[in-house]
Amino acid sequence: MASLVGQPASAPAQQPQQGQPLRLLPATLADLETCTRLELEAMLATSQLARVLHPDGITDAVVAEQTAAKAKKFGIPEVEYIKGVLPPQAGDNDGDNGGDNGAVMVGYLRMYTWATDEAARIQPPYGSAVDDDKTISHGAEKESASAPRPDSDATNAAPASSDDATGLQKIKIQERAVHDGLRERHVSGKKAVYVSALMVRPEYHGKGGYGRQLLTHALDRARDLGLLVFLIAQPTALGFYQRMGLRVLETAVVDFGESSGLGEHRPSLMCFDAGSGSR
Ligand SMILES: CC(C)(COP(=O)(O)OP(=O)(O)OC[C@H]1O[C@@H](n2cnc3c(N)ncnc32)[C@H](O)[C@@H]1OP(=O)(O)O)[C@@H](O)C(=O)NCCC(=O)NCCS
Repeated sequence: MASLVGQPASAPAQQPQQGQPLRLLPATLADLETCTRLELEAMLATSQLARVLHPDGITDAVVAEQTAAKAKKFGIPEVEYIKGVLPPQAGDNDGDNGGDNGAVMVGYLRMYTWATDEAARIQPPYGSAVDDDKTISHGAEKESASAPRPDSDATNAAPASSDDATGLQKIKIQERAVHDGLRERHVSGKKAVYVSALMVRPEYHGKGGYGRQLLTHALDRARDLGLLVFLIAQPTALGFYQRMGLRVLETAVVDFGESSGLGEHRPSLMCFDAGSGSR
């Protein structure tokens, strides 16, 4: 299959249909920009937090920054990027997409597999970005990976207007600190499969089990290896993961404050045990 590089995430070549099987393929480095655009679209469509963090929408700068962050993880042996692709439909005209002939990347999955004691031991220390492609930019790069956990009281919550970068930085730092804490308490040092991203293009949400097909790839891997699956669910995706048989181990509460337009945010650390889970 030829690369999907350059394919705009916002211009699918076909209308979604119910229940088509995705082709699950390893994504290439050249696919990562499409993954980034797809992810931003999926999150902006479903998450108020994403809308606050990206008041200017999907800009070239954000795409470049998040694609570069993905590329860094691409080199880690335990990391896999899997893209879910629909074959072209009859009558599709693929003018600008080379040999792809209208194939559409419907979603993607990023997963870590720490299958051995050694791999578990060298898990990235939390505080290094396992699932955050967001760097703390606007002149505060040094705060990104090693930011100290901020106070979680409401007085630390920040306004988040587009012209108040400090407010956005604080929100990113708070969110990251909460995610790091969840992983430290439940995943750190364990042999496991960790799903760090699962995204479906918004126009395909709820249209035939595309998220299910992607996540099933990770659940099957874990079952084959006898590992637990962990992930952090955004509140809007909690019901999907529960439907897929995952259970909540801990829900964290982060109070961004009313002035941020967010109030309380509740990400959940979830687990799937292939030995006891059902789908
Ligand atoms: C979450 C997401 C991956 C789900 O993918 P999807 O293709 O829309 O979901 P599916 O069609 O595969 O749904 C599978 C099942 O879960 C159910 N489901 C899907 N989303 C749900 C939700 N938000 N709440 C409750 N149930 C949900 C479906 O009804 C379906 O149920 P069924 O077994 O009765 O048919 C997708 O909505 C998405 O990309 N969201 C934005 C990005 C995101 O939040 N990713 C997760 C980050 S933690």
